[in-house]
Amino acid sequence: MKALILVGGFGTRLRPLTLSVPKPLVDFANKPMILHQIEALKAAGTTEVVLAINYQPELMLGFLREFEAQLGVKIICSQETEPMGTAGPLALAREILDDGSGDPFFVLNSDVISEYPLKDMLEFHKAHNAEATIMVTKVEEPSKYGVVVYNEQTGNVDRFVEKPQIFVGNKINAGIYICQPAILDRIELRPTSIEKEVFPKVAADGKLFCMELPGFWMDVGQPKDYITGLQLYLESLRKRFPERLANGAHVTGNVLIDSTAEIGEGCLIGPDVSIGPGCHIEPGVRLSRCTILRGVRVKKHACITGSIIGWHSTVGQWARVENMTVLGEDVHMSDEVYSNGGVVLPHKEIKASILSPQIIM
Ligand code: GDD
Ligand code: MG
Repeated sequence: MKALILVGGFGTRLRPLTLSVPKPLVDFANKPMILHQIEALKAAGTTEVVLAINYQPELMLGFLREFEAQLGVKIICSQETEPMGTAGPLALAREILDDGSGDPFFVLNSDVISEYPLKDMLEFHKAHNAEATIMVTKVEEPSKYGVVVYNEQTGNVDRFVEKPQIFVGNKINAGIYICQPAILDRIELRPTSIEKEVFPKVAADGKLFCMELPGFWMDVGQPKDYITGLQLYLESLRKRFPERLANGAHVTGNVLIDSTAEIGEGCLIGPDVSIGPGCHIEPGVRLSRCTILRGVRVKKHACITGSIIGWHSTVGQWARVENMTVLGEDVHMSDEVYSNGGVVLPHKEIKASILSPQIIM
């Protein structure tokens, strides 16, 4: 089976991390976001993945070559010369997606995290004879998403409304689809939106179905949601693969620590923390609800909560970092400094406290 991942976009809401790498390569739970998806696609029988991309394809491909062999999945970049939206990329990759076999293909947004029950979804899609099947999930704030109104008995979609101004329902498009090649006949080769221009028409023809996503789901395209997504992901890991989580006297709640990270004496770590490869967490450090990316050093007695620490950064001793602070790559924060919601661009030195949320250029 084939799959297309919508990778385009600049990931501005995840800056400063996306100033160093494209959003899909930002690590989530110690693994680039896109690898979570490629692994799930592979497990569901995908042999060829098209990355629909509109900037920095070299970076992405260079990185993924290594995993191509490791995972045994062919990875192809389909590069747009102008942003083609969420449907245009399907038309651009038409020759790959429609190989004449009549087989359906997967389409994924690149910034969502879930348990990816793709095999069950494929069975559902076939059983309903759908032109397209979309995963739906329930959220508190549906206006940020595509809302799906459907018959709960049959799964048949009545209406698809992208980012509704008024309340139409709270089940939303999770950004995970299976499509028949026939859907390509509805998509012109131009910038166009699958949510606004394609799904409403498939729904009107009675050929759009949806399946409720079991388990957690999160669009992790902005820091606050990234940290909430980490909590949900680790909780799901606790149920499915508890052996992957850290344990010991220094751990409380769900914590993921790479085997190459060093943790000093007398630390207290958790809940909801991920610590990447090669990190040095010195003695007496307190970490909760945070992500520490590869190669970071957190010095003695520092305290970090509700924050993301970018690759190869340093947090000084007795420093206090909190309230959705995001340090970009290679940021060095001096001893005893306090950050309250600072968003710090890469390669900076922070010598004075950041007392209120702000961007440090
Ligand atoms: N190749 C390519 N070209 N990809 C694009 C382009 C483009 O021009 N524009 C957006 N994308 C990719 C993004 O990288 C992302 O993976 C996906 O398409 C969706 O775009 P977002 O910008 O993240 O959209 P959203 O989060 O506001 O809404 C979408 O996702 C929601 C779930 O998170 C919609 O699909 C909603 O219906 C959905 O509920
Ligand atoms: Mg998104």
